[in-house]
Amino acid sequence: MSAGVDLDDPTLYSRLDSQNMGSLLRDFPKLFAEGWRQAGAFDPKLDGRRIKKIVFLGMGGSAVAGEMAAGLLRLEEGAPATVLHHDYGIPPGVDRETLVIVSSYSGNTEETLSGVELALETGAMLVGITTGGLVAEVAEKKGFPWFPITLKSPPRCALPYSLPALLGVLWKLGVGRNREKDVREAVQALQGLADGIVPETPTAGNAAKKLAVDMRGRIPVIYGGGLTAPVARRWKTQVNENAKAWAFSEELPEAHHNAILGVEQPAELRERLFLVLLDSPAIHLRTRLRFQITTDILGERKVLTHTWTGSGSGHLAQMACATLLGDYASYYLALIYGRDPTPVETIDRIKARLARE
Ligand code: PA5
Repeated sequence: MSAGVDLDDPTLYSRLDSQNMGSLLRDFPKLFAEGWRQAGAFDPKLDGRRIKKIVFLGMGGSAVAGEMAAGLLRLEEGAPATVLHHDYGIPPGVDRETLVIVSSYSGNTEETLSGVELALETGAMLVGITTGGLVAEVAEKKGFPWFPITLKSPPRCALPYSLPALLGVLWKLGVGRNREKDVREAVQALQGLADGIVPETPTAGNAAKKLAVDMRGRIPVIYGGGLTAPVARRWKTQVNENAKAWAFSEELPEAHHNAILGVEQPAELRERLFLVLLDSPAIHLRTRLRFQITTDILGERKVLTHTWTGSGSGHLAQMACATLLGDYASYYLALIYGRDPTPVETIDRIKARLARE
C-alpha cells in the first residue's frame, strides 16, 4: 500500500486496471438501460399466475440482483414473499407455487447448481439467469427458460445489467409492476451522479474518491436500512472483491440491538474503523432517526463516519445511485492499495480446489 497514490493521475488507471473495470463502471447507466431493454425482448414462456413465493438462488456477485429485487418487491403491495438462498440445496417450502430464480453468471457455481434438481422435483417454476454453463445446459435439458446474460464482465460487474433484466423478467411473469419509468428515472439519476465520480473528476470534488481515501488503512463498515440494506452488503462485497480488503455491513434497525456495542472493544481499533451510513428518503422515518443516533454515538467514540443521503427520487434510482457510488469507491480503494480490481485469485483458487476434491 502506498500512502502517496494520486487518484487524479490518469496513468494509475492504465497501470493497475489491466482488464478495464473502469469502462464497465463508466457504462453503468448504459448497462442499466440495456438490461431492461433485453428483458423486454425475452419470452419466459411460463405462466406466472400461480406464483405465490419467489426463491432467489445465487452466490456472490450473482446473488445481489435478487437481493435488490427482493428489497424492491417488499415495498410493493401484493407482491409475492421472497426468500434469498445463498447456500447449497433449496430452502424449505419450495412448491408448485414457487418461482425459483437460478442466478449464476458463469452457470457453473456448485451451490447454485445443487438446488436446481431439488427445485425441479418439487414442481416449482424455474427461470435461469446466466451466460450459459451448466445452468443453461440443465435448463435446455429439463425445459425451463433462461435469460441469457450477454454482457462480458466479471460476474459482480454485471449487476447494473442483471438487476433491471431481473426486474423485467419478473414483470413478464406478472410479478411486480412495469418498471419502465423507474428504469428511465434511474438511468437519468445515474448519469447525473456519474459525472461527479469518474476518474477525471479530481479528488477534492469527487465523493467516491474521497470515500476511498477515508477507507484506506481502515476497515469500512457499511450501514444500510430498508431499501439500502442490500446496497450496504453490495459495498461490503465490492470492497472485498475489488480492493481485496476487509469490509463489513450492518443493517438498521437490527444493528441497534447488538452491533452498535462492538465499537467499545477493542478500543484501539476505533481509529481503524470507517463507518459509512447509507441513508435515503425512502427509508422508514424511525430508521432514519437511527442513522443519526448511530452517527452521534460513533462521533462520541471518535470513529470516523460518513453519511450518504441517496440521490434520485424513485426507489430504484436511489438504490442504483448508492450502488454506483460504492462500486466506484471500492474501485478507487483497489488502486490506492496498488491492486488490480478485477482478478479474484483467492476465489478462483477455492473454486478450483472444490472442483478437484
Ligand atoms: O464476483 C464474483 O466473481 C463472485 O462473487 C461470483 O459471482 C460468485 O463466485 C458466483 O459465481 P457466478 O456468478 O459465476 O455464479
